[in-house]
Amino acid sequence: MMVWLTGCNGMLAQAFTRQFQESKIKYVGTDTEVDLTSKNAVENFSRSHRFTHIVNAAAYTRVDDAETNHELATAVNATAVRYLCEEADHHKATLIHISTDYVFSGVASTPYREDFEPSPRSVYGRTKLAGEEWLKPLMNKSAAVRAYLLRTSWMFGPGGPNFVRTILKALQTQTDVRVVHDQRGRPTYSDDLASAVVTLSGLSGLTPPASPGCYHFANTGEVTWHEFTVAIAEAARELGLPLKAHHISPITSEDIRRPAPRPAYSVLDTNKVARTLGRPPRDFRLALREYLTILASEMGR
Ligand SMILES: NC(=O)c1ccc[n+]([C@@H]2O[C@H](COP(=O)([O-])OP(=O)(O)OC[C@H]3O[C@@H](n4cnc5c(N)ncnc54)[C@H](OP(=O)(O)O)[C@@H]3O)[C@@H](O)[C@H]2O)c1
Repeated sequence: MMVWLTGCNGMLAQAFTRQFQESKIKYVGTDTEVDLTSKNAVENFSRSHRFTHIVNAAAYTRVDDAETNHELATAVNATAVRYLCEEADHHKATLIHISTDYVFSGVASTPYREDFEPSPRSVYGRTKLAGEEWLKPLMNKSAAVRAYLLRTSWMFGPGGPNFVRTILKALQTQTDVRVVHDQRGRPTYSDDLASAVVTLSGLSGLTPPASPGCYHFANTGEVTWHEFTVAIAEAARELGLPLKAHHISPITSEDIRRPAPRPAYSVLDTNKVARTLGRPPRDFRLALREYLTILASEMGR
């Protein structure tokens, strides 16, 4: 078994690295030094190795910048995925690719299942959907290689800028923290996602690989960003972290207009992954506590 992990400096890839090291899975990680938007660079690197699995955790993730940087976002989120599909085919390797809740419009009021028709509203979402399209031929049972498409949402975890880290800082430095209350979703701990992927794809060696295809993964529990902030403040207080904030004020998306529209409702239905793994993803509050403990020890507490 030999894995090529792309985007290895990113938040999710660091969680994969921890999983691989823990499970003694051999891997090679690359980031921008192997530019995935260059077919030559991808081929040159890939063909000097023998891979059984390719895990694509690389992406253009600057959602607002993507609105004015369409070309680069397309190159990283879509064209690069095509090159990686070609390399998976070359090696007859399993391909694992990560996508996002932003492929959905956000106008639904019940959780999005894997077969719900995507309809992204942002450039980021459209480029991620274009990337997904390249995987489709590999996701049917007769394909020569296996492909897994994992959609996730609202990710937090060690090693990357993320909402929990940012809002904790705000809670520690501001008396009134204003947070939107009209967007609802499911937070996801990067380590929980990486662990689920390792099991699903058979990388752990402990269970056979699940059927290839699309799976949604997010921790259990749906919240607005405002409710998520309240949960972060509660957990931080329980861990003894000093907070300055007296108020967490609900505001609307209109109050902080951003270049890229966000889905108002992007709750992912995770029943398929729960059935496949034999258990639902754990409650986000447990994962949040685990991550805040790490942040607390980084702060010397
Ligand atoms: N974070 C979330 O809340 C969230 C939610 C839903 C889905 N996702 C998906 O989850 C996956 C992982 O997200 P993440 O937050 O871990 O991303 P991240 O921290 O931004 O990591 C992505 C990595 O890919 C690298 N990269 C960018 N362009 C590249 C290129 N041309 N060649 C090689 N590497 C390149 C980035 O380098 P630079 O930083 O130098 O650009 C970065 O190190 C992505 O597919 C994302 O769409 C994330």
